[in-house]
Amino acid sequence: DWTMQNLISESVDKIREAVGDKRVLCALSGGVDSSVAAALVHRAIGHQLTAVFVDHGLLRKGESDAVMENLGGQLGIDVVRVDASERFLGKLRGVSDPERKRKIIGEEFIRVFEAESDRLGPFAYLVQGTLYTDIVESGTKTAATIKSHHNVGGLPEDVQFEIIEPLKELFKDEVRRLGEELGLPSELVWRQPFPGPGLAIRVMGDITEEKLAIVRESDYILRQEIAQAGLDREIWQYFTVLTSNQTVGVMGDERTYAFTLAIRAVVSQEGMTADFARIPWDVLARISTRIVNEVDGINRVVYDITSKPPATIEWE
Ligand code: XMP
Repeated sequence: DWTMQNLISESVDKIREAVGDKRVLCALSGGVDSSVAAALVHRAIGHQLTAVFVDHGLLRKGESDAVMENLGGQLGIDVVRVDASERFLGKLRGVSDPERKRKIIGEEFIRVFEAESDRLGPFAYLVQGTLYTDIVESGTKTAATIKSHHNVGGLPEDVQFEIIEPLKELFKDEVRRLGEELGLPSELVWRQPFPGPGLAIRVMGDITEEKLAIVRESDYILRQEIAQAGLDREIWQYFTVLTSNQTVGVMGDERTYAFTLAIRAVVSQEGMTADFARIPWDVLARISTRIVNEVDGINRVVYDITSKPPATIEWE
């Protein structure tokens, strides 16, 4: 694609000129924006870029390895993965309030990231995957905060780096095309939005390893079936939520008393409003059967049929 090639060569020149022979740091989250920003800066300055990937243990199944494989393996970026899952889980133990979960995860992320940057530095520049819409939206933000929407890429205010924002003139669809042009796989580039606090806000109430495993496995089945049904680009977001509700069921001739799992799937333009996705019954039936059979601890599956507003997309 000709325009994308132009955009790449112009950005590469600008980044090289700005950075000189200095070292540059970036944070990877597994998301589209930080990945494309890293790939672009790497195209410009190669090993002068170091990417830190803080794995908080709250990503979806297979995602942490995919980051290493795609950005480290395929693209050859110097990626340092920090497995901080025990640290995050420890801090989150017993915490059930959604906003406290977000706060803990945001703060912990910054601590881990700063420690890595001190260990690997010094760095003169920090890359951020800010898009044009991020800038426009933060200029018009209303006072009422419904959810604090920590992006796990969010960084402290007193950073000593200069910031590079190579995507700040682009819209999301341009960022996706740029990512493809830079050699990122289409599963990553077309990935659905995923919240910074990850699966922590998809386990209602307090978080344990067992509960995370339930969300991770059921989410994986849901993703497989949605892709199989060819609905993955039509639906804005689709995921499972582990409720804190237990109900009676029967499996074989055994009585069970286990958790209820909810499926959330919405269509939306930009996430501000949303409508529940009209997934065909037979697809929902397959998803439900597979989840109850394959995921320990679930004996009932329900489908969320509320739109936003009055509900939100995530349950927490
Ligand atoms: P809600 O649940 O408010 O979500 O309708 C709107 C969009 O934002 C995502 N979301 C978050 N993203 N940190 C994020 O980076 C968060 O704390 C957070 N909470 C919600 C949500 O997945 C949806 O795309």
